[in-house]
Amino acid sequence: MAMSFPSELYASRMRQLRPSTIREILKVAAQPEIISFAGGLPAPELFPVDAVRAAADEVLTRSGREALQYGPSEGFPALREWIAHEMQSRGIQAAPADVLVTNGSQQVLDLVAKLFINPGDVVLTENPTYLAAIQAFQALEARFVPVPTDGEGLIPEALPELIKQHRPKFLYTIPNFQNPTGVTLSAKRRQALARIAAEHQLMVLEDDPYGKLRYSGTEVPPIKHWDEAGCVLYASTFSKTIAPGLRLGWIAAPADVFSRLLILKQAADLHTSGFDQRVALAYLTGNDQSVHLERIRHAYGERFAVMDAALKVEMPANYQWTKPEGGMFLWLTGPVELDGLKLLEQAIKHQVAFVPGRDFFPTDGGSNYLRLNFSNSNPERIREGVRRLGALCRVG
Ligand SMILES: Cc1ncc(COP(=O)(O)O)c(C=O)c1O
Repeated sequence: MAMSFPSELYASRMRQLRPSTIREILKVAAQPEIISFAGGLPAPELFPVDAVRAAADEVLTRSGREALQYGPSEGFPALREWIAHEMQSRGIQAAPADVLVTNGSQQVLDLVAKLFINPGDVVLTENPTYLAAIQAFQALEARFVPVPTDGEGLIPEALPELIKQHRPKFLYTIPNFQNPTGVTLSAKRRQALARIAAEHQLMVLEDDPYGKLRYSGTEVPPIKHWDEAGCVLYASTFSKTIAPGLRLGWIAAPADVFSRLLILKQAADLHTSGFDQRVALAYLTGNDQSVHLERIRHAYGERFAVMDAALKVEMPANYQWTKPEGGMFLWLTGPVELDGLKLLEQAIKHQVAFVPGRDFFPTDGGSNYLRLNFSNSNPERIREGVRRLGALCRVG
């Protein structure tokens, strides 16, 4: 029989962490007969499996011994160089020395939290925001203060008062096709945010996993593009452009932040897999990225359009949803009395799943929202899933 340890044995910060009832329900949603709009998964049929196999083969043949050895904590130098060029193409001045390669961008959130958050420190976030960022910051006992948002993202003019009142450690923001809302911060607001951050010495953590997944509209440069004062830390990932199973992400940070993050990275895991980094680099340099990205953008754009059209037909008039120009999610607002968790229980019985909005709100509220993922289901399943969901919403 397994021993049960007394609760005092666990660190006091564990008391802050909310167990997620939703996670349990979502385990059921992973069954293949359920049409799931729940997870944040890319389309697996678009993973470049053959090209990654060829890249892995090339790495093992050419430099198998180095690839399987321990490596530098900063990351594989040639990949850091590739990433610095990639950031330059996104409008960011970055050198290879600024780049720390991490285990997905999720590790960035964990390391940044460890570096800056003391118990009770305030983090400013969009409202709602990425669920696993809330978890990462909560694990270090952060307090959350939401920044007012609208259809163009967070409202920078609200920041000076919040900064004065709460003295936050940093602002966490997802400016492109935000998770969970799909909303993109306008160029004007990015400029205003960079200016306000400089004026108030506010550190900004810009999390950009979805920027390359734009299927309509015009590209907007990252906030970091306008960051002359050096207030913005920029994070991104290969999870959505190659595959999340590689667990490869990065952060670009100035030298004083970088050197401290590096110590935390060493303590966490010594370094990110040197084999995976080399495979990613061989894949990136051996294949035309624009062709692969275009396939993803085309498929996701089509899937969004199918979901949007199906929602127009199936949903009652008192439901609205966002129209993202990229990424993987849209955000549905139901009538105030809607209980998203109860609707999910019903939905699972009808073999369709989504994530109720509540858990994306770092403080309170949000029970009448649903997050729908459109990247991980084909058009036929999207139509059928929305039909089932619409029928449940019409019943009330
Ligand atoms: C906003 C945001 N940040 C970070 C991540 C973590 O991604 P990864 O660790 O795979 O790079 C995700 C994953 O869905 C995300 O949506």
